[in-house]
Amino acid sequence: MAFRSFILPFLCSLTAANAVTVYNQLPLGSQSTATDSASLASYTGSAAYNPTVLNPPPIPNPAPGTQFAINLMPTADLVPGISIEAPSSFFGLSIEMSVATQVLGLNGSFINVPFLNLMSLIIERAGEVQVRVGGNTQDYATLVGSTVDGKAIEKQSIDPNNPTATPTIIFTEELLYMLSNISSLANVKWFLGVPFNDTQNIHLEIVESGERILGDTLLGFQVGNEPDLYAQHQHRPSTYAPSDYTTEFGQWRDAWQNDANIPVKNNMIGPSLSLANWALEDVWNTGFLTDYQTQLSALSVEKYPADNCAALYAGLGTPVVPQDVYAEYLTHYSGVNIVKPMLNSTMIAQQQGKPFIMFETNSASCGGFAGVSNSFGIALWALDYGLQMVFSNFTHALVHVGGQNVYYNPFTPPPTNQSTFHQWSVGPIFYPLMIMPEILGKSNTSQVVDLWPNSGSDQTPGYAIYENNQLARVALFNYMTDPTGAMAYTANISMGGGETGQQQTVPASVKVKYLLADSVSQLWNITWANQTLGGQFEADGRLIGEEQIETVQCDTTANVCPIRVPAPGFALVMMTDDSASGSEPTGTMTFATTALTKTANTATIDQSVLETSNGHSGKDRIIGGSTSKGSSGAGKAAGITPSVTVLVAMLAGAGMFMKVFSR
Ligand SMILES: *[C@@H]1O[C@H](CO)[C@@H](O)[C@H](O)[C@H]1NC(C)=O
Ligand SMILES: *[C@@H]1O[C@H](CO)[C@@H](O)[C@H](O)[C@H]1NC(C)=O
Ligand SMILES: *[C@@H]1O[C@H](CO)[C@@H](O)[C@H](O)[C@H]1NC(C)=O
Ligand SMILES: *[C@@H]1O[C@H](CO)[C@@H](O)[C@H](O)[C@H]1NC(C)=O
Ligand SMILES: *[C@@H]1O[C@H](CO)[C@@H](O)[C@H](O)[C@H]1NC(C)=O
Ligand SMILES: *[C@@H]1O[C@H](CO)[C@@H](O)[C@H](O)[C@H]1NC(C)=O
Ligand SMILES: *[C@@H]1O[C@H](CO)[C@@H](O)[C@H](O)[C@H]1NC(C)=O
Ligand SMILES: *[C@@H]1O[C@H](CO)[C@@H](O)[C@H](O)[C@H]1NC(C)=O
Ligand SMILES: *[C@@H]1O[C@H](CO)[C@@H](O)[C@H](O)[C@H]1NC(C)=O
Ligand SMILES: *[C@@H]1O[C@H](CO)[C@@H](O)[C@H](O)[C@H]1NC(C)=O
Repeated sequence: MAFRSFILPFLCSLTAANAVTVYNQLPLGSQSTATDSASLASYTGSAAYNPTVLNPPPIPNPAPGTQFAINLMPTADLVPGISIEAPSSFFGLSIEMSVATQVLGLNGSFINVPFLNLMSLIIERAGEVQVRVGGNTQDYATLVGSTVDGKAIEKQSIDPNNPTATPTIIFTEELLYMLSNISSLANVKWFLGVPFNDTQNIHLEIVESGERILGDTLLGFQVGNEPDLYAQHQHRPSTYAPSDYTTEFGQWRDAWQNDANIPVKNNMIGPSLSLANWALEDVWNTGFLTDYQTQLSALSVEKYPADNCAALYAGLGTPVVPQDVYAEYLTHYSGVNIVKPMLNSTMIAQQQGKPFIMFETNSASCGGFAGVSNSFGIALWALDYGLQMVFSNFTHALVHVGGQNVYYNPFTPPPTNQSTFHQWSVGPIFYPLMIMPEILGKSNTSQVVDLWPNSGSDQTPGYAIYENNQLARVALFNYMTDPTGAMAYTANISMGGGETGQQQTVPASVKVKYLLADSVSQLWNITWANQTLGGQFEADGRLIGEEQIETVQCDTTANVCPIRVPAPGFALVMMTDDSASGSEPTGTMTFATTALTKTANTATIDQSVLETSNGHSGKDRIIGGSTSKGSSGAGKAAGITPSVTVLVAMLAGAGMFMKVFSR
């Protein structure tokens, strides 16, 4: 207690976002808040299922225009300030190490099928997905030969009221085998983190085992996690400074170089600042970049635009009221302001020839905000923020996944005791992960420019995307919610002209895909080109519904393609046939579920219900034999809950019980 009374005033004095991550899974029911506005029958009380629906922010006064022109250069070389080339797999995931066995699977032979399916949705668009397993827990994680109960990860419980307490976790090589086995099924690449708590006793075991087990699927190791918070969290003396971090990084570098069991010497990643207490320049000024030029494979940062820590921990002041901050996300300025402190560093990274990675981000640390972080509005925000990072020359951005006790998850497995009758819940922020590679295309040559259309309205941002120097796509946002339809806008896209005298006109027609919901505050049933991952406990990781791509006729004489964007909504405009085919998914590899672990009613399971749900590509799949609860007539007729389909598949060594459908 003395400890807390010492540390809390110090924490309160901080104005910057405090990126404390909440690790331990609080008991179900302990997270209900006074803001709950509805009670769903299935509501368990965990933040991940909080049913709060906020009011959409009012239309600004004066209202933005609803008719405006966007004139685009036909090639990237004519666009001043355009970004460097971004990879299709720009967006990836960051998974808190302590929840890895909830999200990924239990061990190398027990992998969560919905996770594989969700990764496949990204991979069929991006070619790969980059996933970081780490977080604050990595700093104290110890690789051991075995655990008492045989689990891949064991975690000691901590005081949930102490924001500075970091649980120590122990894990076995089984965790690494699980990652490796996932990569053999879906093209997932991994980042791991080293235990940086102790530079007197450097533990390189995770690097040795990681390299041996993961091989080419291992992208690199994070060395230090938010070191600018170490002093504040009492993990280092209060004097801990950027120069101390640089010195410790060097101690690790030296041990690494001298370890004969580590074949790869140049995949260290840092400094992963939270930007709460230090600026990146504070680290650059210590000689970090020149000292470790050879060993650094990427530069990293971890930034949340806000935090909800006061709602979780006593002594941090009045908790934020989510409704009060909602509008701060539903504006183009949000992403623009988040990246500002990093722009000097993305230029420095270019000069150094290093990728610059947003290693961990989401709407707000300490779990996010109810009704904000899990709303359709945050899907628009994340796409806009993501494109802003691309425009600002970031290389990748990893969206954080927490446990049951956060609002901001891209996806959440059901609570363990509900896994036999519930499926996963896919949050709105998953859709941007799937859509970004469609926006960027598959070529890894995408260059992006922020257009600031509509006289620079923050409510109607837009970006143009060029691939191989050619105009490929246009991304248009509408943050406003207006059920009357009056605030839907039409953007007149034209090409060429301008001061350069380029004569090039729009094609006869363009294809458009929409990301839609009725309101920014809608929580579930968001659609991308009419396909959805459904509602709470409804997702097995495969899209449902028929894909619908609009064709918009352009006026080639007037050189105008009029694109309507609903309020709210996002539109992706494919400016050429190539850019349309270049971003379409290649056909989904889906992982069906023939290995039933437990079922609610095994006696009457109708195998055909499962079979008909298997193997459809995202494109072709219709609701017919869905595995979603309540949506299959056949299942109902048989008197069972169709969602008894399994959460997990067994991939035991002897053979694959899990069918892999590839098309
Ligand atoms: C799951 O566990 C929680 C907490 O122990 C309990 O409140 C809840 O009723 C359980 N649900 C089911 C379906 O068993
Ligand atoms: C958009 O294009 C339409 C059809 O070409 C035209 O009537 C309208 O004036 C244009 N609006 C703007 C703001 O350019
Ligand atoms: C993996 O987990 C499953 C389910 O708990 C268990 O049956 C199996 O024995 C585990 N396998 C290993 C190798 O630990
Ligand atoms: C999966 O992981 C287990 C360790 O649990 C390992 O024995 C097995 O060989 C792996 N399977 C594949 C296909 O890599
Ligand atoms: C670092 O963490 C490990 C694992 O929790 C622990 O055993 C060790 O004592 C810690 N070292 C320091 C200096 O805190
Ligand atoms: C960019 O960072 C470098 C290295 O820390 C520093 O010298 C320079 O002043 C910074 N420039 C700006 C505009 O912040
Ligand atoms: C991104 O990099 C390009 C090429 O160096 C540069 O022209 C542009 O200004 C950079 N963008 C930002 C926002 O810093
Ligand atoms: C883009 O990059 C990814 C990841 O490195 C790679 O798998 C893919 O083949 C690349 N695509 C092209 C067209 O080069
Ligand atoms: C989502 O859509 C399905 C099918 O239209 C419907 O049954 C379900 O009630 C919807 N869920 C929500 C939360 O709106
Ligand atoms: C959208 O998907 C639904 C199934 O979810 C389907 O019934 C409907 O016809 C689709 N709409 C269009 C326009 O394709």
